[in-house]
Amino acid sequence: MNITVKQIMTWQGYAYAVYIRTLVFIQEQNCPAKNEFDHQEDEAVHFLCWVNNEPAGTARYRILDARTGKIERIAVLKNHRGQGAGRALVSHIANTLSQIAGITSIIMSAQDHALPFYQKLGYQVIGEGYMEEGIPHHKIEKMVK
Ligand code: COA
Repeated sequence: MNITVKQIMTWQGYAYAVYIRTLVFIQEQNCPAKNEFDHQEDEAVHFLCWVNNEPAGTARYRILDARTGKIERIAVLKNHRGQGAGRALVSHIANTLSQIAGITSIIMSAQDHALPFYQKLGYQVIGEGYMEEGIPHHKIEKMVK
């Protein structure tokens, strides 16, 4: 299996990301479409994960302040889960963020069902749980410097 992660640089790549997020978040998880593609799409940096040359997953990051990067919208197509695509995506983006001068912390708003996935990648839960789009979440963080 060949897994690669690349920053999206073309409209075609972004269309693949929209397709994956539509299937995963809007159709599978019933998140409202109007919130999925929000006003932060422009400022975010988007990535695609390719499995055997097929688009299989996507995620984006945003810089929140001089020290903090946030990874968001992590989605792997159902038929590609359990093959390491999610790990490759989050690790690649975390590595990219850690190379930006000043960034010391990576945070995410994680769905509770995926917490064991993030804990395996070294993220720790911070604070109390909360609901977002009707789904239980916790804030998680990893220090990178
Ligand atoms: N619960 C427990 N462990 C999990 C898990 C889960 N939900 N998802 C993955 N893992 C584990 C895997 O077993 C694997 O463990 P290993 O290293 O011991 O083999 C490790 O985490 C890496 O898994 P990987 O195959 O890279 O994950 P994935 O490609 O299936 O992607 C998600 C994981 C969460 C991104 C994927 O399930 C997904 O897109 N879900 C729907 C959208 C979603 O909920 N996104 C997260 C929003 S916060």
